[in-house]
Order: sequence, then C-alpha cells, then structure tokens
Amino acid sequence: MVATTSIHGMWTTRLAFILAATGSAVGLGNVWKFPYITGENGGGAFVLVYILCVSMIGIPIMMAEIMLGRRGRQSPINTMRTLAHAEDRHGFWQLIGWGGVIAGFLIISYYSVIAGWAIAYAFRALGGSFTSLTGETAKDLFGALTGDPERLLAWHTIFMVMTTIVISRGVRSGLEQAVRVLMPALFGLLLVLVGYALTSGKFMDGLKFLFVPDFGALSAGAIITAMGHAFFTLSLGMGAIMMYGSYLPASASITRSTIIIALMDTLVALLAGMAIFPIVFANGLEPGAGPGLVFLTLPIAFGNMPGGLLFGTLFFVLLVFAAWTSAISLIEPAVAWLVENQGFARVRASVYVGIVAWLLGIMTVLSFNDWAFSFDFAGEVKTNGVFDLVDILTANFMLPLGGLAMALFAGWFMARASTQDELALGQGPAYRLWRVLIRYIAPLAVVLVFFNAVGLL
Ligand code: PHE
Repeated sequence: MVATTSIHGMWTTRLAFILAATGSAVGLGNVWKFPYITGENGGGAFVLVYILCVSMIGIPIMMAEIMLGRRGRQSPINTMRTLAHAEDRHGFWQLIGWGGVIAGFLIISYYSVIAGWAIAYAFRALGGSFTSLTGETAKDLFGALTGDPERLLAWHTIFMVMTTIVISRGVRSGLEQAVRVLMPALFGLLLVLVGYALTSGKFMDGLKFLFVPDFGALSAGAIITAMGHAFFTLSLGMGAIMMYGSYLPASASITRSTIIIALMDTLVALLAGMAIFPIVFANGLEPGAGPGLVFLTLPIAFGNMPGGLLFGTLFFVLLVFAAWTSAISLIEPAVAWLVENQGFARVRASVYVGIVAWLLGIMTVLSFNDWAFSFDFAGEVKTNGVFDLVDILTANFMLPLGGLAMALFAGWFMARASTQDELALGQGPAYRLWRVLIRYIAPLAVVLVFFNAVGLL
C-alpha cells in the first residue's frame, strides 16, 4: 500500500533530514521578517503569542506534515491523493497539495526579491558602504536600492537563477553539507552581532521591547500575524516539510526531529531580534520601520565595529545562503509534481517553475517604487502594495489554512492506527498529547484566530 522510498531519492540519515528541514525553516523569516513584524506589532506580547503558536500549533502540525509526507512518499498533491485513497476518504484532500503549490509560488515570488536585497548588501558590505553609517545615512542607502526597480530586478533574477540551478540538480546533493557548515556560521555571526548590541548602550531597552509583554499593544492583526509567522518560519502548511518528510527513512523519529528543528528556528529568530532592537533604539530608528528594518540596523553595527567589513560581508552572504536553502523547499513540491505527473525531466520542470516564479516576482519588485500603494489590514496601514498583499494572503491565511487541513486530516480522517504506526510513539503520553493537540487545540486555535481577525470574536 504505502511506498517505502521516493522516486526523487531519499535522505541518507535522519541528520540529513534535520539539516535540510532546518535549512528550509531558517531563512529570511527569522532574520528579516521576525524582527520587522515584531517591531510593527509592539514587541513582547507579539513575541509571546508567536512562541505559543510555535509550540502549541507549529510543533504538532509539523509532526503531522512530516508524517503525511513520509507515508505518501510523493509530491504533496500525490501524497494527499494517495493517503486519502488509502484511508477511504474523498479525493478533495489533495487540494492541500494544490493550495500549497500556489502558496509556494506566491511566497517565492517575493522571497526572491528580498533575498536579492541581501545579495546587494553583501556587495555593499564588501565595498565599504557601511563605514560610519548612521540611522539617517542607512535609510538613504536602503532607499537607493528599493527605489530602483532595475536593480531589484537584476538581483531577483540572480537569486532565481541560483535557486533554479540547485533545484534542477535535486535537493539532496550539496544541501546537507551546505547546511552543516552554514547554520553554525550564521549562528556564530548572530552572536557577534548580539555582542555588538551589548555595547550599544541600549541593550536592555532592546531586551525589554522583545520580552516584556504589553498586552495593550496586541491587536487582532498582531495575533493573526504572529500565528501566520509561526507557520511561515517553520515552513508549514504548504507542503515543503511534507515534501522533505517524503524523503525521510522509515526508522527516523519524527518527534525528536521536529523539536530540534523548531528549537533551532526559534533560537535564530530571537538572536536576530536581540541583535537588532538595541541598535534600533541606540540610533533613533523606528521599531516599526517595516521590511527594511534589518537592512537599516545591522549595517550600522558592521560599519562601527572592528572587523565590520569582514563580518558584514560574511553575514549577508550567509543570509543569502539561508534564504537559498529555504527557497529551494518552496518550489520543490511543484517541481516534484511536474516530474511525477507530467513526466518532465527534473531540469525542465525546474526551469518552468523558475520562470513562473521570476515573472511573479516582478510584482514585488515594483511594490517598493512605481506600483507602491497602501491599504488597511486589521487596522494597520500597509504601504508596500502587492508585496504586503501577497505576504498577508500567504502567511496569515493560506499557510494556517493548509496547516488546519493537515491537522484535520491527520487527527480526524486518518485511522488512529496509521498515525500511531508512523509516529512510532507507542500508546503512551507523548502520543496522546500529540493527538489532543492535533485534533483539538491546534485546529481550534487557528479557527479562533481567523474569527478574531475578521472581527467575529
Ligand atoms: N521558513 C522560511 C523562512 O523562515 C520560509 C518558508 C516558508 C520556506 C514556507 C518554505 C515554506 O524564511
């Protein structure tokens, strides 16, 4: 009934899976998005809701998503079709896979443009543009980049080509080694930055902002953004983790892998926040400065610390790599489906997917300049047009909806024996806890947050 291997290949060990999944999880979401949305949503209370969502919703759903992938062993569309069939359920469950492919295209379209900013900044760091930067000059430097659609397009193109090349060769070759070296390096550099933040004179202000909750600042928009970010940062709800789960050997423990991945992901985000907010306060910048926040703050640190040229260049190069290992997982489900169902060679499938993603990315390229417009979301003003729309649609709605559907399928529509068999936790308290979380807590939480966001609660 269920396959034991995937036609696209397999991870050689559990560690390879953990590394790849961590590579997918840790990316721009941690270093770029987490700090700026934390800044926009008032800090501590937002961070608390985010951490709650990671542990109560993210972890059980990640376990479910990996489990579904490993049981189906195909692209999320075919995995869900196969599993629905095996469990005697309606074929519409494959919509989880389709929704995920669409979400993947939408996310990569802007993800690639932001990764392009990181490439641009790696070159600026190397060229010495950060020397003696202040809050004001950092803004000019950033504005010169985002105000120029041609430059944005060029970097977006380079990043999409990089991603397409790796994906056309299969996700396994190189990914494991790359992540094994890159993650510790990124980690080390974040520590260097936190060290700089310690000397900024505003370290405690930064910590307070991040960790002391002010529940008055918690709007409905903030809550759904925190929940959406829990899905986004863990790569959940669109099939990326399902896809990687489909390459996981049968003997590996899903629970332990999930906990390790979630912990590392959260740690990187918190470190980034601890590096960034002290610099925000020490340099008269706004915590709610928006998507430019990392690019406004960290260059100031690099421009004023000893060895900043080297550290700065290295940091942005590593950020590009972290984005790269996430971008790959965003389009792997679409590529795998083309290979499985259309009989395409992997290279051809990758090029088609890459071209569509590149074209969609043009909307984001123009969001920061020629096409910029603003709109209201749950009482907050968003100023970056299509970019903000696509971000809110995917992270706040599509991913949680996909995750909700996975939770319902795994909790209510799969035989208890199937999930027990796959999770291999026995009948004990760990399995029972997971089952309560996946059947009741996680779905209910997602639905309540949705209702709250649309004003029904
Ligand atoms: N988790 C990635 C990040 O935080 C983004 C991502 C989302 C990747 C969804 C794959 C799927 O940067």
